[in-house]
Amino acid sequence: MTNLQKLTASIQKLKKERNAIILAHVYQRGEVQDIADYVGDSLDLSRMAVNTKADVIVFCGVQFMAETAAILNSYKTILLPDKNAGCGLADMATSEQILKLKNQNHGLAIVSYVNSSAELKAVSDICCTSSNAVDVVNSLSYNSVLFVPDRNLGSYTAEHSDKNISLWDGFCYVHENIKPGAIQSLKEKHPKAEIIVHPECISAVRHMADFTGSTSQMSKYVKKSQQKEFIVGTEDNFIYRLKSDNPDKEFYPVNTLCEGMNIITLEKIKLALERMEYKVHVPEETSEKAAIALDRMLSIL
Ligand code: 13P
Ligand code: SF4
Repeated sequence: MTNLQKLTASIQKLKKERNAIILAHVYQRGEVQDIADYVGDSLDLSRMAVNTKADVIVFCGVQFMAETAAILNSYKTILLPDKNAGCGLADMATSEQILKLKNQNHGLAIVSYVNSSAELKAVSDICCTSSNAVDVVNSLSYNSVLFVPDRNLGSYTAEHSDKNISLWDGFCYVHENIKPGAIQSLKEKHPKAEIIVHPECISAVRHMADFTGSTSQMSKYVKKSQQKEFIVGTEDNFIYRLKSDNPDKEFYPVNTLCEGMNIITLEKIKLALERMEYKVHVPEETSEKAAIALDRMLSIL
């Protein structure tokens, strides 16, 4: 048996003993995606966390995703294999800053991207993911919206909505690192390739793209497309998912990695199940308020 086979066998055994399920985001390392029971985008994983009958969820993603699972499942144990798996974007707005603005502007709806802290969700009117941001904003009875914390997903949403949307000045470094020049030189090397990008990319990059969408929307687009080559404007590990699902197609990465996603390894998943750590806990009052904003999002779609 190779080391990988031994590790895989130990994880499978522990999973059974604990009645656990492994959920992985599409930005996880390939070997982590391979061992997961379910791989998806933020919205899919939130839904999966609600629907599973498992007692324990090993969440292979970043802190805010595991927190979301904990908020939606107060009676289940949520384990994050590395407690330092953070999202730089989620730290760019605090609940105190947003609450102050909310109190100063009655009639302003706070729409928080799920890439935010549980405390921020708790002071928001509704949450959204990159899959449903446009639908969420358009569903509101309010005309004025403050979109937090991502200015890029916010401006993408504003381009597809008639609402008056103010943007918080946050961004994801993984996507801001993708520059128009890099996309241009990939296009020169692979002229037949279609450009697909995540809405967290800057507008100059989005406007060069043939398609902009969340990771699950990009997956669907690629599956349906007659094209055989794609330049992929998002985190590089996503290509592992695309290639597994579409072995006959070629994908060109932009060379950008999310530190928080890549920190999770098979060894850490095994330790998480052995030691039942790191348990994700959201204080009850915060959790109850954040659940309202998350449930509103889940109920409109
Ligand atoms: P998706 O919901 O599209 O998977 O995006 C999550 C994320 O963190 C993007 O950086
Ligand atoms: Fe956060 Fe960006 Fe990583 Fe997504 S890619 S988890 S937004 S830091």
